[in-house]
Amino acid sequence: MARVCVTRALPGAALSRLAAAHELAVWPGAQPPSPAELRAHATGATALITLVADRVDEDLLSALPDLRIVANYAVGYDNIDLAAAARHGVSVTHTPDVLTDATADLTWALLLAAARRLIPAADHARERWPAWQPDGFLGVSVTGATLGVIGAGRIGSAVARRAAGFDMTVLSCGRDHAGLGELLARSDFVSLHCPLTPATRHLINAGTLAQMPSRAILINTARGGIVDQRALAAALAGGQIAGAALDVCDPEPLPAEDPLWQAPNLLITPHIGSATVTARTQMAEIAVTNVLAALAGEPVPNPVPHPNAVSR
Ligand code: GLV
Repeated sequence: MARVCVTRALPGAALSRLAAAHELAVWPGAQPPSPAELRAHATGATALITLVADRVDEDLLSALPDLRIVANYAVGYDNIDLAAAARHGVSVTHTPDVLTDATADLTWALLLAAARRLIPAADHARERWPAWQPDGFLGVSVTGATLGVIGAGRIGSAVARRAAGFDMTVLSCGRDHAGLGELLARSDFVSLHCPLTPATRHLINAGTLAQMPSRAILINTARGGIVDQRALAAALAGGQIAGAALDVCDPEPLPAEDPLWQAPNLLITPHIGSATVTARTQMAEIAVTNVLAALAGEPVPNPVPHPNAVSR
């Protein structure tokens, strides 16, 4: 029987498959464990299931000599030091595919909400609604607009496919960022779907924001670190771009005193891209399946594909 540690209870019944065969320890707190708490919680673990808020680095790995696998409950894995994991002979797995549609759908929810000023309009309806106004809450057209998709992987492609229903022109750029300048200059909406790596950290910065037209709206459902948030706050305050909708921030949660909260035309949601019952349940099944495979000495079905992510 191996000791398997999980840093939060997961939706669905997947963890019961682990508990049936192994000693399962689930972090009981509502808040993520601190690095010291995580080290203590994971002591003696052979397998660890982590969330994006949990940093898996040299300190943690060197404290866990029996560890064979870290199964990240996410498709992204920038919270994990892959080089350190490789040095310690620890497999790293993630949960691709099952959250693609949920995250693409949320991207569209944010895009539409930002374009049509949905949240201020809904707040207005609830708080005070004196009369229908010909010029009340005027937004921008989504149908027929141009969508720039940065990151042409599973989620970026799913977002782009949905644009066909809105008769949009889609521009995309992939890993080499070829065509980024043209995409930024031409897009009404720019949506980020690249992983956070050294090459994409602060890809959206004062310089790239300046290449966007003043009508542009930025959507980020990827990772907060891809955007230089100070530059974004300044661009929103100065009317350099028209708005932004972020499901991810750096750090998360964004502290109450962070100046980004004061920026105009900004919508922030608390990292809910994969938050459907279906996606989160399937993510748990995948994480557990990978752990069971590793503990049985079998190849893991969902190893992370390339060693280019960085720790946050
Ligand atoms: C969530 O952010 C994920 O990477 O799955």
